[in-house]
Amino acid sequence: MADEAHVKDTLGRHLRDLRISVTDRCNLRCGYCMPADVFGPDHAFLPRKEILDYEEIARLARVFAALGTRKLRITGGEPLLRRDLPELIGLLRAVPGIDDIALTTNGLLLPTFARALKQAGLSRVTVSLDSLDDKVFGRMNGKGVGTAPVLKGIDAALEAGLTPLKINMVVKRGENDTEIEAMAQRWRGTGIVLRYIEYMDVGTTNGWRLDDVVPAREIVARVHARWPLESADPNYPGEVAGRWRYADGQGEIGVISSVTNTFCGDCTRARLSARGELFTCLFAGAGHDLKSPLRAGASEAELRALIEGVWQRRADRYSELRNANTAGLPKAEMSYLGG
Ligand code: GTP
Ligand code: 5AD
Ligand code: SF4
Ligand code: SF4
Repeated sequence: MADEAHVKDTLGRHLRDLRISVTDRCNLRCGYCMPADVFGPDHAFLPRKEILDYEEIARLARVFAALGTRKLRITGGEPLLRRDLPELIGLLRAVPGIDDIALTTNGLLLPTFARALKQAGLSRVTVSLDSLDDKVFGRMNGKGVGTAPVLKGIDAALEAGLTPLKINMVVKRGENDTEIEAMAQRWRGTGIVLRYIEYMDVGTTNGWRLDDVVPAREIVARVHARWPLESADPNYPGEVAGRWRYADGQGEIGVISSVTNTFCGDCTRARLSARGELFTCLFAGAGHDLKSPLRAGASEAELRALIEGVWQRRADRYSELRNANTAGLPKAEMSYLGG
């Protein structure tokens, strides 16, 4: 199908990527995502019957692919907590038009699942790791979990060939900004791409303050001072991370500057929550219910028209508008709608 036939929103943006959240649960409690005092033992997670099953997710993925989606990312919560995840990967691999399936994970369960995920057709993984220091990491993940199990998970993914592997490090001032250089040093020359992420005001529970954000330009300057960097072109239009290559040939880093240098202009990302709602922005307050029509027996053509209509009306550019007026708006939690 020619690109022109693919759906566009009010700002001319295609629907290229679908990020699928398969669960709102996680075995960690990172303060910037699921603070332990909010997501405590009594927190009500989604009941199983509320969550899309794998057939339902795959059906929707087929509809998105028909509208131009080429790339899928499985997220959560922690997606590997969902039972038999490789089964879903297998179903998604069979969707015509999809050429990249990635998974964002905290890595803890990769030693168990990496091989099966690869065999089922997963292309690659991105592992979240905010520090190499057990104390700093344990504090940030809210559970006191050390770095060793995550590093084991990374090794398992590399062995299984889930590459190119990326590492996401959310940088928060006063918590792990001291770790910027140590992380660069550890991962340069390994073929792994470390991405530094500006701490974002997703959801309403993390107590975000602008003062806690370490701007991407500061991060790049600090790494550059130790190991000179050159800017590199994006791998594809609309890539989230800005790329910087080590001048000495030891690979590259990425910076995701969704606060200080926004990238809404070419945002082609849609999100499907575990509950089956379509969110057209990471910062949206509410999604569009796809589960009800799906379960009521809507045909593929009906679902397609529904999604097409939502996308054609899309005008989101939250990060570009972020200011005093957006601060108090209702927003869904990232663990719920999918990172
Ligand atoms: P690649 O496919 O490897 O290029 O991955 P990606 O650039 O899509 O990165 P990934 O999915 O690992 O996302 C990294 C982080 O960037 C996410 O966890 C979010 O924190 C942030 N991010 C991703 N997409 C968006 C977006 O649309 N808007 C904003 N504001 N942040 C985003
Ligand atoms: N700001 C920036 N990144 C975040 N993530 C989760 N919450 C935030 C936030 N508030 C990132 C995690 C993980 C991915 C799922 O989203 O680092 O890599
Ligand atoms: Fe869990 Fe990832 Fe959120 Fe941390 S960032 S609480 S690992 S979903
Ligand atoms: Fe896309 Fe919304 Fe992120 Fe902007 S803030 S890049 S529109 S998801």
